[in-house]
Amino acid sequence: MTSRKLHIGMSLAPTWLSGDAWRRGDSRAEDLFNIDYFVEIARRSESAKLDFLFRPDTLFLQTAALEGGNGFAALDPTILLAAIARDTQKIGLLSTVSTTFYPPYVVARQLQSLNVISRGRAGWNIVTALDGNENFGLDEMPSPEDRYGRAAEFTKVVRKLWESFPGEALLVDKASGRYADTSKIQPIDHAGDHFSVKGPLNVPSTAPSRIPLIQAGASPTGRDFAASVADAIFAATPDKEAAAALRSDLRQRASCHGRSPDSIKMLPGLSLYLADTQAEADDLFAATHQRMDTARKLGSIKEMIGLDLTHWEMDKPIMAKDLPAPPQNVRSRTHANLLHRMIVRDAPTPSELLKRPEVIGSAHWQIIGTVEEALDQIRDWRACDAMDGFIAVPGGSATSLSLTLEALVPALAAEGLFRLDYSGETFLDHLNE
Ligand SMILES: Cc1cc2nc3c(=O)[nH]c(=O)nc-3n(C[C@H](O)[C@H](O)[C@H](O)COP(=O)(O)O)c2cc1C
Repeated sequence: MTSRKLHIGMSLAPTWLSGDAWRRGDSRAEDLFNIDYFVEIARRSESAKLDFLFRPDTLFLQTAALEGGNGFAALDPTILLAAIARDTQKIGLLSTVSTTFYPPYVVARQLQSLNVISRGRAGWNIVTALDGNENFGLDEMPSPEDRYGRAAEFTKVVRKLWESFPGEALLVDKASGRYADTSKIQPIDHAGDHFSVKGPLNVPSTAPSRIPLIQAGASPTGRDFAASVADAIFAATPDKEAAAALRSDLRQRASCHGRSPDSIKMLPGLSLYLADTQAEADDLFAATHQRMDTARKLGSIKEMIGLDLTHWEMDKPIMAKDLPAPPQNVRSRTHANLLHRMIVRDAPTPSELLKRPEVIGSAHWQIIGTVEEALDQIRDWRACDAMDGFIAVPGGSATSLSLTLEALVPALAAEGLFRLDYSGETFLDHLNE
């Protein structure tokens, strides 16, 4: 078992308002587009000494879902985090930027700007996107393999651009009149299958640290891409066995790429429905999902694994033999594989299936209970080398968020499983601690 401390990120998604949670009197759902609200959560996360704040992102609006919930309406993550940078000092700022739709020069510039503004606290969550093609002139979503091919080249270009204008090139020598040593600034002259980019970047890398890379897709291609470049993976692992297997596989793949296995951290999303008693936590979970749109969930099961449950009896188990051949070109093979695997293993009824994290919780590790229950599970996963930390995804209520930040994390620190204070200044310092 590792003796290293856990690495903990806080999602600003904001998952604690999803389902019906936003309708609670104290939810502050009306503050979702108010920067002060996010700054307050950022400061509380920094007081808890978390490694980073994480903003997932999509580039489309789910108009149908917006009638009863947030529907992915969100401020641009990099701009949001730039505003938060001014009111925080140490915490990492992990932005999500898709490689499928943007040009790499723009992305390199935005993230380098965030890194300069925050003095080395920017991070890039590299996603190949789930949807939104029609907002970018594409009739169809490119296949996962096409998206990963583009992502690999995109990432290479962005990294080269970040190095193309080193901070040392800036002299600003007023006496001699020499502003920069331009011999240190080099074009990248990239010409590849997807991009042609001359460079150099027009933002100098004056921050004290490079930008850590995080990746999320966990199909074999996604894992291999992550193992070749990423400092961490944001994982969807609903159970300990899936997490331990993914962590061990990523470490092995990193070795094959000539990297140290410790250079890639496995951080599962951890959905936390926390309350003072188990019964209250169960009620919180039930209340959050009370108005679940069953038709939409069945639609998403069909889309993920091709299984049509529209006319299935709600208490009839679904067996492995009932599963059709998986559809081509699914949005996330990671989520489809996890759902398929769970049905083969557990033969759930549709009623059971509709409560599972693979269907309603983005396939994240889910704890519904007290802080003590969460501590027990986190100790257990750590003892089994199933993760290097987690990204907290509190659910259900503002209280669940508070218990995560102001009770669970301090309890982990008191046990020596998490830091009591920052020892470094940058996001990479925290990840390498
Ligand atoms: C845990 C997890 C989180 C993800 N978060 C995002 C996100 O915030 N935005 C996005 O556009 N795509 C997101 N994705 C999609 C991935 O970037 C990728 O496009 C998708 O999973 C397909 O890759 P795969 O075939 O390896 O599963 C996420 C995927 C996973 C597994």
